[in-house]
Amino acid sequence: MKAIDVKELCFSYNHTCILHDVTFSVEPHEFIGVIGPNGGGKSTLMKLLLGFLKPNVGTIEIFGKNPRENYPHIGYVPQTLSIDKQFPITVKEIVLSGSISDLNLWGVYPADKEKEALVCLEELGISHLADATVGNLSGGQLQRVLIARALVSKPKILLLDEPTASIDTQGEKEIFALLKTLKSKVTILMVTHDLNAAIQEVDRLLLVQRTVTSLTIKEVCEHFAMGLYHAPLFQSNHLIHLGKK
Ligand SMILES: Nc1ncnc2c1ncn2[C@@H]1O[C@H](COP(=O)(O)OP(=O)(O)O)[C@@H](O)[C@H]1O
Ligand SMILES: [Mg+2]
Repeated sequence: MKAIDVKELCFSYNHTCILHDVTFSVEPHEFIGVIGPNGGGKSTLMKLLLGFLKPNVGTIEIFGKNPRENYPHIGYVPQTLSIDKQFPITVKEIVLSGSISDLNLWGVYPADKEKEALVCLEELGISHLADATVGNLSGGQLQRVLIARALVSKPKILLLDEPTASIDTQGEKEIFALLKTLKSKVTILMVTHDLNAAIQEVDRLLLVQRTVTSLTIKEVCEHFAMGLYHAPLFQSNHLIHLGKK
């Protein structure tokens, strides 16, 4: 069964068509980089996969079911999350908040959830930060905390939107390498503007620009070799070069 199966999807905000005739699928345990120009529809696609938005036309299946039926199986790291830096919440508490449905009547998390939160922090290499307050973290550390938070409920799919908090190139490379180590557990789609970091680690790329085109790493590297990697990568006439349009 496919992890994600999208067929002939169209989506508009009001009457403005954002995504048109989108068909693609993702196998379990694939690690996919999602790229495309600003306003191309990447965040909208993530929200459709999450079931926050509904397609006007076409279908989305997540492990054979409607996105909404899969809610507990999808972990999401949003593009922006407003965290009050003054609010004295710890890293462990933020991670546990990803599992809020497990809170008992007294507002206490079961002991195994606490343990799970620590395991997730460990996997992301930040267990030493468990008791740090969130206001003191760097952009890269905060991103890892948010990934741990998305993983604590053991999702089958992890969706990450491009972090707006600027993370340096090295930090971005490390995140990709780290996500690759999680592949055996979870199917991953990561929206990124850092194509260079992505192609080192992902299995393939989805280019989102009104429609969605799958590109292998080899195809993208051929683009580099042809000197086409700059804005024109996103122009459809160049995709015709690849026989992909
Ligand atoms: N809530 C909204 N209402 C109307 N238009 C929106 C809304 N959210 C996004 N858009 C528009 O949809 C297009 C795609 O946006 P988005 O999915 O955020 O693109 P990306 O993440 O690729 O930059 C943009 O033109 C944006 O202005
Ligand atoms: Mg976006």
